[in-house]
Amino acid sequence: MAAKEKKFFLRGDKWKIAAFLGLFLAAFFVAACCYGDYLLSYGEKVFTLSPGETEKQENPEGGANNSDEEEKAEAETETDLEPSGSAGEEPEPGTGEEEPPDEELGGDKPSPYPPPPGEILKIKDGDYLLALVTKQTTLGDYAPTDLVPIPAEYIKPAQRQWKYYLRQEACENLIRMCEAAREEGVELFVISAYRSYETQERLFRDYAQRNGEEKANTFSARAGQSEHQLGTVVDFGGTSVDKTQAFADTQPGRWLAENAHRFGFAMSYPLDSQRITGYIYEPWHFRYIGEESALAWKESGQVLCVFLEGQEQFWEGH
Ligand code: DAL
Ligand code: ZN
Repeated sequence: MAAKEKKFFLRGDKWKIAAFLGLFLAAFFVAACCYGDYLLSYGEKVFTLSPGETEKQENPEGGANNSDEEEKAEAETETDLEPSGSAGEEPEPGTGEEEPPDEELGGDKPSPYPPPPGEILKIKDGDYLLALVTKQTTLGDYAPTDLVPIPAEYIKPAQRQWKYYLRQEACENLIRMCEAAREEGVELFVISAYRSYETQERLFRDYAQRNGEEKANTFSARAGQSEHQLGTVVDFGGTSVDKTQAFADTQPGRWLAENAHRFGFAMSYPLDSQRITGYIYEPWHFRYIGEESALAWKESGQVLCVFLEGQEQFWEGH
């Protein structure tokens, strides 16, 4: 009986020891988890601060590689994003009061484009190669300051009594493109280039008188809304079907559709895009947006204005 009792007691002790060990392990596990959580949250804090700081450091460096237009645009963005009345009130870095990086970059800012019906957004800087020029935006009286005459040999022979202008960079690339086409046996001739606000106003008025305003606005932009006012746009011709859709099937029309992007030019009003652009198919109208952007545009397969909507835009008063 005593032996039985002893045996039972021992068995009971084992349980107690097992229970004690179990409790000890559980307590150890809970403590380890809490410490792990602490370590993780500390890690997150450190990690969350880093990208914000990096962003601040990297921006000026990135700007150094950009074109003048992009640098200017970036500077304007920073001004844009400053909350009104907050000049000089930015918290010191490292105080934990910094705005989240997303807000600094305008990630949460809703795009004002397209504006509500009847409203028109004013383009802040027509020098910006990617400025979105549509029927919902206006260049106002913007005029480029670096226009240069296009050499006569690239103008359609019958129009060489007049001078045509483009912005310097666009003109250099136009020449490069015309020479490349010429080497392949294709002659590209300019029939229209830079048009001032006043010229476009006169053109549109004439078209509207002849065709009615609504019809005119399917093939001609109103003053302030023509890409030609940017000084980066060329209409090509020199064929028997200039300014008709048959231009697409001519030698220069085909060459341009296939190659213009390699020289920084994009066709603004492609086939079947009137629903998007508001303008008929214009296989002769090409806009210079820079080589890198033109390659990205071509790769995207998007209509130019849709591609530009996806790029940073700068509006007066926003
Ligand atoms: N033909 C184009 C739409 C313009 O007038 O700018
Ligand atoms: Zn045109």
